[in-house]
Amino acid sequence: MEQIIVRLQEVTKRIGKRTIIDRLTLDLPRGEVFGFLGPNGAGKTTTIRMMVGLMSLTSGQIFIDGHSISKEFEKAIRHVGAIVENPEMYKYLTGYQNLIHYARMIPGVTSHRVKEVVGLVGLEGRIHDKVKTYSLGMRQRLGVAQAILHNPKLLILDEPTNGLDPAGIRELRDYIRNLAKNEGIAVFVSSHMLSEMELMCDRVAIIQNGKLIDVRQIQGMNIDESISQVMFEVNSSEAAIDAIITAGQKAEVAGSNHIVIQGDKEYAAAVNATLVIAGIKVYSIRDHVKSLEDQFLEVTGGESVG
Ligand SMILES: Nc1ncnc2c1ncn2[C@@H]1O[C@H](COP(=O)(O)OP(=O)(O)OP(=O)(O)O)[C@@H](O)[C@H]1O
Ligand SMILES: [Mg+2]
Repeated sequence: MEQIIVRLQEVTKRIGKRTIIDRLTLDLPRGEVFGFLGPNGAGKTTTIRMMVGLMSLTSGQIFIDGHSISKEFEKAIRHVGAIVENPEMYKYLTGYQNLIHYARMIPGVTSHRVKEVVGLVGLEGRIHDKVKTYSLGMRQRLGVAQAILHNPKLLILDEPTNGLDPAGIRELRDYIRNLAKNEGIAVFVSSHMLSEMELMCDRVAIIQNGKLIDVRQIQGMNIDESISQVMFEVNSSEAAIDAIITAGQKAEVAGSNHIVIQGDKEYAAAVNATLVIAGIKVYSIRDHVKSLEDQFLEVTGGESVG
């Protein structure tokens, strides 16, 4: 059976009269990279603060490796590594010296483990340079290295891609995926940038106004027949729509020469037959796959992501 590392059960946070987080329920299995996506003010940081015990829950429960964060804090937090705010580093020390400094505060962390985490975040080449000479992306990796020193089962990152350039984001993605796959760490990563989540995560939850709107599997989501669309290029979209409606089928106009239908392959074939029989010229038929971005805008009612 799949091992659940994190369980959020009806997590609710009220501050004054406002409900900031509203009955959030989620499960994260071992080794999964889970994206927590939502516009500014959606409640991402608030949720994370509750997950790491920086903020109390109004109601509901959070379990980490089976331990309640409110009732068994010590046991639960032992399995968590997190970067909630910018990690504090000593800029005049090297990355390695910083890690050794933190390692001394955690029982059982050996210098072997320090070398291992440096490898995991791909900082071998620069680890003996002073932190003040690091780029933002490198500082972030050092932060992640520090957060995983104690072998946590869960790594939480609040908007780790902020400020990174595309190359930095790609590198972050690569080592995050690596941590999940090779170390079995469940990674909970928040963002308001959908395109980044799509590349990094196995699943993405969409949160808006403190409510969970949707959870989507990234791999294989494009083959979900229920959301697949097919675009037809025709000589007249008006005439095509008429024919389709007459035949009791459905389509939408997408410009003077394009129509889009929603349905599976068989439906596309049936619509094509209707068009051909009605004497409409069909120039091309192709999959019109909705990007996660389109879907996100749809489920959030078109509210901007960024
Ligand atoms: N201590 C607090 N007191 C009152 N309201 C708060 C507090 N902390 C957060 N909020 C409110 O809760 C809502 C969610 O905030 P939160 O910081 O969790 O959003 P977020 O999704 O992390 O946004 P961003 O993308 O901007 O980081 C916001 O409306 C915010 O104003
Ligand atoms: Mg935030």
